Amino acid sequence: MTIKDGLKLEPVFDIPLHGRRGVEIPDVGRDDFAKFLYDYGYRVGVEVGVDLGDFGKTLCQAGLKVYGVDPYVVYGEYKPPSTDSAVLYEQALENVRGYDYTIIKKFSREALKDFEDNSLDFVYIDGNHTLPYISQDIFGWERKVRRGGIISGHDYAVVKGIRERQEPKVYDGVHVKFAVDAFVYIARIPRLYILGKRRKKEGVKRDKWRSWFFFKQ
Ligand SMILES: C[S@@+](CC[C@H](N)C(=O)[O-])C[C@H]1O[C@@H](n2cnc3c(N)ncnc32)[C@H](O)[C@@H]1O
Repeated sequence: MTIKDGLKLEPVFDIPLHGRRGVEIPDVGRDDFAKFLYDYGYRVGVEVGVDLGDFGKTLCQAGLKVYGVDPYVVYGEYKPPSTDSAVLYEQALENVRGYDYTIIKKFSREALKDFEDNSLDFVYIDGNHTLPYISQDIFGWERKVRRGGIISGHDYAVVKGIRERQEPKVYDGVHVKFAVDAFVYIARIPRLYILGKRRKKEGVKRDKWRSWFFFKQ
């Protein structure tokens, strides 16, 4: 199965309130997604959340021009990185050197101002996964993508954060599925695509953390 073939599949799961709109494309992962974007004619996009730039590099190797947004700072509502932020930033710069990848060292909400509405072919959202941030990312970056472009991201999942159970509460879980489903419902997106099947089967390709995407209406 290719992602292009997967676009013709019938939806198999429900989006809350919106009914059966979720399509799972079996046997594909986000590396295939990078090639799909290029083959489909997309060229310029934003990756929110760069870290070391590993997926950014994959996107560029597929032929895409990418702006990567990441503040490289430690802040209370995000888990501290395992490496010092300044070192991580240097390592990311080194990792993407020679590729058409520009790192914008800003918080996602600040970097929104650097892009015109309806100007991007795609966005891949993989920054802070807690509800306030992922919601802001989806609603903010969707406006920056042109009609027919793609809004996508990593980690279509919900995982309860450890510090959400403590006092004082800090939201540190993964709430991506809540935010994506809500947007898909509110914006009446006809199809939400997930890369890989829900249940991992022996011998079938699936990223551990699945990516999601939909087309801008
Ligand atoms: C999961 S990592 C990104 C991994 C990268 N997309 C990849 O797959 O190779 C998440 C990154 O999001 C960044 N981040 C956290 N909060 C952010 C925010 N508000 N805006 C932009 N990036 C943020 C973190 O600094 C971290 O490097």
